[in-house]
Amino acid sequence: MEPNPMKIEIIQPTLQDWQKVKKLRLDALKKDPQAFGASYEEEINEPDQYWQEKLEESIGKDSKEVFVVAKEQDEYVGMLGSEEANEGKWFIKAVYVKPEHRGKGIANKLLENMLSALKSRNSIKEIELKVSAEQVAAVNLYKKYGFEIMDTVDQELGDGKEHEVYLMKLKHEI
Ligand SMILES: CC(C)(COP(=O)(O)OP(=O)(O)OC[C@H]1O[C@@H](n2cnc3c(N)ncnc32)[C@H](O)[C@@H]1OP(=O)(O)O)[C@@H](O)C(=O)NCCC(=O)NCCS
Repeated sequence: MEPNPMKIEIIQPTLQDWQKVKKLRLDALKKDPQAFGASYEEEINEPDQYWQEKLEESIGKDSKEVFVVAKEQDEYVGMLGSEEANEGKWFIKAVYVKPEHRGKGIANKLLENMLSALKSRNSIKEIELKVSAEQVAAVNLYKKYGFEIMDTVDQELGDGKEHEVYLMKLKHEI
């Protein structure tokens, strides 16, 4: 008989969990540098305060950021963030699921959770994101939920190389 799969919960971490968030973020930057705007080398030496303040931005019901993680037992295995860039205009960012946990629907759950969290904020008008064209799984994930490619730009990513990056926008009502 197959062992029971571990239960995955989607939660908004509290400030005291900053070390778990740091661990997952550094794992993402190390394993998939080509997928992110920042690099592992930039963030590895940041002091504790940097991580605490970063997480603090997402705490509270009127925060300018929302951050959700997938939790398996005591470990964070996936994450998805968003940030209000201008009044009512939000950007999805920092999307990552640990390689050994991929293909099990965790990103689906993270994105659905984020979209409903954003929907509960009355002021929301637009949701956009940037994704490297080479990150096929991520591009498919966003298309599945109604994001469409609006523009393509060249951008240096965390691996220090130039990549084709899509600007995608959610086309339907939130
Ligand atoms: C993109 C990523 C978060 C997907 O996480 P995941 O938990 O494996 O995704 P899910 O299992 O929830 O799949 C969600 C959808 O993504 C797409 N997808 C996932 N894996 C895919 C793959 N290997 N090939 C093509 N599409 C894929 C599908 O549309 C899928 O929908 P389905 O469940 O109806 O098949 C993960 O692959 C990842 O962390 N990639 C590296 C980092 C990255 O690219 N981040 C995006 C930065 S903008």
